Amino acid sequence: MKFFLDSASLDEIKAAKDMGMLDGVTTNPTLFSKEKGDWHKTAEAICKEVDGPVSLEVVGTNAEQMLAEAKELIKFGPNVVVKIPMVLEGLKAVRQLKAQNIPVNVTLVFQPLQALMAAKAGATFVSPFVGRIDAIGGDGMAMVEEIVTIFRNYAYETEVLVASIRNPTHIVRAALMGADVCTVPFSVIKELVKHPLTDAGLETFLKDWGKVEKG
Ligand code: E4P
Repeated sequence: MKFFLDSASLDEIKAAKDMGMLDGVTTNPTLFSKEKGDWHKTAEAICKEVDGPVSLEVVGTNAEQMLAEAKELIKFGPNVVVKIPMVLEGLKAVRQLKAQNIPVNVTLVFQPLQALMAAKAGATFVSPFVGRIDAIGGDGMAMVEEIVTIFRNYAYETEVLVASIRNPTHIVRAALMGADVCTVPFSVIKELVKHPLTDAGLETFLKDWGKVEKG
C-alpha cells in the first residue's frame, strides 16, 4: 500500500520523506490556506521535492474552468495529478483530461456509486473521505470496502486513495481490504509508530544495558 502525505507543508513533506513514508502528496485549498507565502511557489517546491504524484485541486465550478485550471496546474511539474471534485461538471472534465492523458484524482467521494462513476469517466485515483463519514455517524471504511470490491469486480485500474484519515485504525483496515493508497496527515503518521510495549521494552533494554560489563 502506498502512503501519501495529506499536506501542503514543505517541512512536513521533507520529514515524511526522511522517514521513507512519502510515495506522494495530496493537497487541497484548505491545506494551502494553512501555509504562508504565495501558493504558486509552494506548489512548485512540493512538486520538486516529491518523487511521486502530487494532487493539486481546481477551484473552478464548471468543466471549462476546471480544464483551464488543469492546464496551468500541470505546469508545476511532471508529477502533478489534477484534483477534481465529484460533481457533474467534474466528471465532464475528468473525461476530457483522460483523453489528454492527464492524471486525475476525483475528490470528495462519499458513496460507492460516485467512485464507480469517477472510474468510468477515467479517473486515475478516487478519494473516499472516511473521517468525514465517520463524523456524521457512518462507517467510512465500509464505503471503502465496497469501492474496492466494485473496482475488483470490473477490473478498473482506478486506484482507491483513502482520504480524510483520522487514526491508525483507518490505515490498518485500508491495508487489510487492499486499498491502493492512504493519504495521511503528518500528525497521524507520527502516531503510527507508537506502541506502549515498544516504549516499555526499549526502556528495559536501555536500563539492562547499563548493567552489562563493558570491559
Ligand atoms: C484528500 O485528498 C483530502 O485532502 C483530505 O484527506 C481531506 O480530509 P479532511 O477531512 O481531513 O479535510
